[in-house]
Amino acid sequence: MLVDSHAHLDDKRFDNDREDLIKNLRENNIEFIINPGADLKTSRKAVKLAKENENIYAAVGVHPHDAGDMDENTIAELKKLAKEEKVVAIGEIGLDYYYDNSPREIQKKWFKEQIKLAKELDLPIIIHDRDAHEDTYNILKEENDEKLRGIMHCYQSSLEMSKQFIELGFFISLAGPVTFKNAKTPKEVASGVSLDNLLIETDSPYLTPHPYRGKRNEPKHVKHVAQMIADLKGISIEEVIQKTNQNAKKIFGIK
Ligand code: NI
Repeated sequence: MLVDSHAHLDDKRFDNDREDLIKNLRENNIEFIINPGADLKTSRKAVKLAKENENIYAAVGVHPHDAGDMDENTIAELKKLAKEEKVVAIGEIGLDYYYDNSPREIQKKWFKEQIKLAKELDLPIIIHDRDAHEDTYNILKEENDEKLRGIMHCYQSSLEMSKQFIELGFFISLAGPVTFKNAKTPKEVASGVSLDNLLIETDSPYLTPHPYRGKRNEPKHVKHVAQMIADLKGISIEEVIQKTNQNAKKIFGIK
């Protein structure tokens, strides 16, 4: 069975059919999903979904878009949430220099504070890095110790750079863009990174893979990501599914 290592089922685009969709996960060959938060509100929703559903686990964190709204109370609140059952990571956290919704210095400050929280709680981190590869890497390098580990979610940078993140103890997670016809870099990453270091995800409701582009994304579409990796590596989809499932259980500490 497949694992979708990143899906926002708390999103309002699932309000009309969330229950059915979750009920059908098994039927669609999805063993479990990780639902990350993007702010306090969605982190709380993720925790609630995880408590109510066997095949959902949560991550709690504040996305760089909302870093400008953070203060010490937010960290205290995240800490409390992170101790709830089935919270398996801090995320999604990171840097976004494409939208620059929060000032960069503020993004960096709260990225670091949330990394420190994850290390304190001995949890992996789920990283959002958009057009901020250098700073993301430099902060991770600075914070690197035996506790630091995590996932580069919807990895967008080069194959070259992926080696540096892997060296720091990070998994490279591929999403829908690897299936896009003109996606040269994600395809290079899928071919060049060992299966030992790969995860797969949908980032639902965003980043819908080919051939469903333009429609809302759902966890079941993660198989198209797995199939593309299999095709690029010249191996079976079963091998991709088995190994990425194993990797997800390892990094999130799920039995
Ligand atoms: Ni996301």
